[in-house]
Amino acid sequence: MNVKETLNVASEELMKIGSLDARLEAEVLLRHVLKIDRATMFRDLDEDVSIEDSGNIASLVKRRTQREPLAYITGAKEFYGLPFVVSEEVLIPRQETELLVDTAIVQAKSLDKSEISIVDVGTGSGAIAVSLALNIPTSSVIAVDISESALTIADDNRRAHGLYSRVKLRRGNLLEPIVEKIDILVSNPPYIRSDKLTSLQEEVLQEPMVALDGGYDGLELIKKLLFQAVDKMSNPSVILFEIDSDQAAEAVKLSQQFFPSAIITVLKDLSNNERAVLLEIR
Ligand SMILES: C[S@@+](CC[C@H](N)C(=O)[O-])C[C@H]1O[C@@H](n2cnc3c(N)ncnc32)[C@H](O)[C@@H]1O
Repeated sequence: MNVKETLNVASEELMKIGSLDARLEAEVLLRHVLKIDRATMFRDLDEDVSIEDSGNIASLVKRRTQREPLAYITGAKEFYGLPFVVSEEVLIPRQETELLVDTAIVQAKSLDKSEISIVDVGTGSGAIAVSLALNIPTSSVIAVDISESALTIADDNRRAHGLYSRVKLRRGNLLEPIVEKIDILVSNPPYIRSDKLTSLQEEVLQEPMVALDGGYDGLELIKKLLFQAVDKMSNPSVILFEIDSDQAAEAVKLSQQFFPSAIITVLKDLSNNERAVLLEIR
């Protein structure tokens, strides 16, 4: 079979699991095996694919039809225009989380400090920590996670982006490992209500439970994080955390409880869902 025929067979298989992006996913898997970019793939549509490569593509397609997420199969995911290594030890970074990065960059400018200390709680792959360190040159970032295996992936990513000395990794529960004062606290914590977990897509259920489960109301970790943050924030400073689209009212209430004088704003993502809460502490 040539490249075009291989792509057609792969996308037909992927359509059987109802993938809306079957063609695109087939392209990603084929390019992953052939180690070619998109332009080369289109140039070589009539070229033959070796028997060995065909077999490898077929076995990746099979894994995908068994609902393994595409990013776990390729071991890679783009976030904030940057490449990240991922594995089943970490949540696959989501596009909507880029809102946290955009907002933190704007807030860093308005804090107007010569050095900015950022803490990313629940760093997972390190996607937020790395993106912030690269886009805020005056920052030093501490990335915290409770999962040792997640920190191994975050370590690979900070090194791949040349940030070994500017992104420090600490293992621990939320802010427990932080003794420094924080200028920007950013977090995409687990926030799915425990009783909603079983109704998640099969792909999502293959991500680490510790990255998803936010307790009985989904806000357990956010509550603890805000409590711990009270005497760790500098003045002025900023807290920014991601929420599920139906948690805004409760998350604002909690924020007011712990930071009564903060300016609190709910931020919407590109799909117009309430996706993050910003606290400006002055
Ligand atoms: C939703 S994932 C976010 C990963 C990454 N920041 C991102 O946005 O792609 C939540 C992360 O929080 C970590 N986590 C869960 N409970 C934690 C806790 N008590 N303290 C620190 N990290 C925790 C998980 O291991 C997971 O990596």
